[in-house]
Parts: sequence; C-alpha cells; structure tokens
Amino acid sequence: MTESKLHLKPPGNWMNDPNGFIYYNGEYHLFFQYFPYEPMWATMHWGHAVSKDLITWEHKKIALYPSQYGDSNGCFSGSALEEDGKLYFYYTGVRYEEKTKEDIHHCTNDRFESSQMMITSKDGYRFDNFGDKKMIIPPVTDVAVGDRTHTRDPKVWKGKDGYYMILGSTLHQKQGELLFYKSLDLNHWDYVNCYRNTEENQGWMWECPDLFEVNEKHVLIYSPMGFLKDGFKEENHSICRIVSFEEDDCSLEMPNPYQFVDYGLDLYAPQSTLDKDGNRIMIAWMRMPKPVECEEPWIGMMCQPRITEVKNQHIYFKVHPDIEAAFNTPVPDPGHLDYSKPYQLKVSLEEGEKISVGGYVITRKEGCICTDRTEVFEGIEGCRMTFQTPELNVGCNLNIFAEPNLVEVFINDGEYVVSNVVYELKQEVLIPEGKEYLLKQM
Ligand code: FRU
Repeated sequence: MTESKLHLKPPGNWMNDPNGFIYYNGEYHLFFQYFPYEPMWATMHWGHAVSKDLITWEHKKIALYPSQYGDSNGCFSGSALEEDGKLYFYYTGVRYEEKTKEDIHHCTNDRFESSQMMITSKDGYRFDNFGDKKMIIPPVTDVAVGDRTHTRDPKVWKGKDGYYMILGSTLHQKQGELLFYKSLDLNHWDYVNCYRNTEENQGWMWECPDLFEVNEKHVLIYSPMGFLKDGFKEENHSICRIVSFEEDDCSLEMPNPYQFVDYGLDLYAPQSTLDKDGNRIMIAWMRMPKPVECEEPWIGMMCQPRITEVKNQHIYFKVHPDIEAAFNTPVPDPGHLDYSKPYQLKVSLEEGEKISVGGYVITRKEGCICTDRTEVFEGIEGCRMTFQTPELNVGCNLNIFAEPNLVEVFINDGEYVVSNVVYELKQEVLIPEGKEYLLKQM
C-alpha cells in the first residue's frame, strides 16, 4: 500500500478529520475520515495508516465502514483508548432519515440522527464491523440536553476514577455546547454534565472537542461551526483555550481568551494523543478547496503532528523533536533542493523583511507575521489569501516546512503557527541578500 512522508495524504479520493490517534504496541495508529470512491465528502469510513516515527505513514486497509443500523450512513469522527492491551474505539454513527433519490451518500435537509458507538480491536489492525459494534449512547432525545442530529465526535480518556467522554453538541441548533459522560467499565456510559457558553458569536455547534492536561493546565481544543463570518469560505474554525475543569462533576469554565490553533485558518478538527515519550501531540486536517490532479486524485491531508504545551498562560504548538531530527541533511542553497520532497528553512526576520517560499510570501509587519498565498493559489474563488498572527512577544524565528501542497510556518518555537494549503508551489526560495538561513531535507 502507498506511503506518505511528513504529511499523511489519502491514497486517492477524500480525507478529513484525524480519528483514533494513538501510540500502541510501538506504532502510531492514525485513522481518518475517508470516502474511498471519489475525491468528495460522502458516506464516511475510517481509513487507517500507521507510522513508527511520525514521519513515514503507511496506509492499511479500511478499518471502519457502515454495517449496522446506527452507522448505516457513516462512521463519523471519534477516538481511541488502550486498556489491558486492547484498543477501544468510540465514534459517531450516523443514520439518514431522508436521502436524495439519486445519491445515497448524502442526506437531505439535515435529516439524520447520531448515536455514539464503540468497537474494539485486539491488535489495532483487525476490526469486526459486523459482530463487534455496539451503540453505547443512543441519539439524545432531550432537547434541553443536546441535539439528536448534531451530537458527535467522542473523545475519551482515562481519569482518576473512571473513563470520561467529551462530545460536541448544540443547544437548539443555535449555540455550541459540550456534553460529558462517564463510564466505569468502558461499555456503559452515563451523562454527567454539560458546558454552555454565555459569550456571543461562539458558533452554533461545536465539533471535535478535545480536553487534556498539560503543564498542569487543562487545555480545550474545539471547532465551532459558523465562527468566522467574514464572507470567505470556511466559517468553521479550530480554537483552543486554557480552561478550568473538575473531573468530579465534569464542570468546565472558560475564564481565558481563545487562540486559533493555527493562524492559516485551513487547519481543522485537531485531535491529540500522547507520543511514545509522553508528550501531548496534536494532529489535524488541512482543508483543501480542490483535489490534486494526478493518477489517483486526492483531497485533504494532515498537518505534521505538533507538540502541545502551555507556558506563561499561552498554548504553544511546537515542531516535534523527532521531525526536527529527521531533517538531517543540510542543503547549501535553494538551487540544491529536491522540490518534490519536503524541505525545512530556518530564518529570522527583522521588521519589514520579506521572504518567498516557492511563491508563498512571508513578511514581518507591525510586529506580526503576515503571509500571502495569492501566487500559489490561482483560480480559486472565495477563499482567504492573506493571514496574520497576533503581535509577537519577542523575536521572530521562523521554522518553515514546505512541500508541494503545504507550507507550515512555526514562529518562535510554536508561539504561533501559520499553515496553508498551496497548489503548484514554485521551485524557488527567495531570501534577502546577505541574510543567514538554514536549509535542510530528510
Ligand atoms: C468535522 C466533522 C465532524 C464529523 C466529521 C464527519 O470536520 O464534521 O464533526 O464527525 O467531520 O466527516
């Protein structure tokens, strides 16, 4: 089966959210929302890839596919947990109540119901889609609690005295909310509490929530729908914040402001797990407006996994040390790069300075990093072309990773990250005369 380097791409056709991300038996397993027949979103399967080093990903056979009443129209996003050497997967099963006559893969008028489902695996590779699936939380029927259609994306973890699940939902399809469930045996789940925001304009539905502790702080990552209504495509965005959370009653508070997970605003639906050394790592879907045309057209890819940390009340997304170490071949100048493969560029910018990474322009302006993909995103309407970080704290060290369809700019060791999808990145790197820089490849 096919291989991907640095950024996982589908083996043709469609990919969205990362699912069931886990380090298990010496390998990273990464599942993903997958439509195997066309490069478009439709009936969701779970694709599967594994990696030993977070760099080389090898595709395996499809793990989950619709096979039961509850997931007859799709296996939506979810997560994994290891217990006693066995893997437990929790995901959202979707069943359409109305579908288009000529298209069984799409639902009409948003008429579908969602339940939370479970499946196990003894080795991470074998799944019994017919014999082993179980509906653990039926569609929510109490509108005062949540929504029977839009309640999804279970993220599970093992807590002090049981297992916990966070779900994304909506109150009356107007206001995003989070639901918390608890289990003592991984099979039976009870509703415990919910969180509802009181701020304005926080999105009508919250997708893919993820809650974890790092550096003695609780971090919440979630993806509100209808969050940025500035007329450009993609209103849904992934944000994160330091929150307070009590496991006893699953009460959550949000006293702190939000950050975008990535200021390129293409990144969506992040999911975190622990790496082999116990670091919290996050991976996410890079949304693409059109397929890459080749023998097996594909659309959607993953960002590189990033270490998530909290320092001085700020959430950092850093380059993983194993990825940093893999770029171990210095390249003397841009003329010697193999542009078909990922490359790394380290450079720091002074106020007003500008570089071009294959036509993707990065400028330091008024204390911020600004990027512009206009030259490498031609013929695409309605998408954002320019991006900007908040004002930087101190310095402006860039650690940039570029490959034909993605540029990731890590600023000041992950203080902010700006990542953008590009098409036909040019085979050039332009840096102001006399400036020091470091170029590397794997
Ligand atoms: C986020 C999302 C999830 C859902 C999945 C369906 O991109 O909409 O909420 O589970 O994608 O593919």
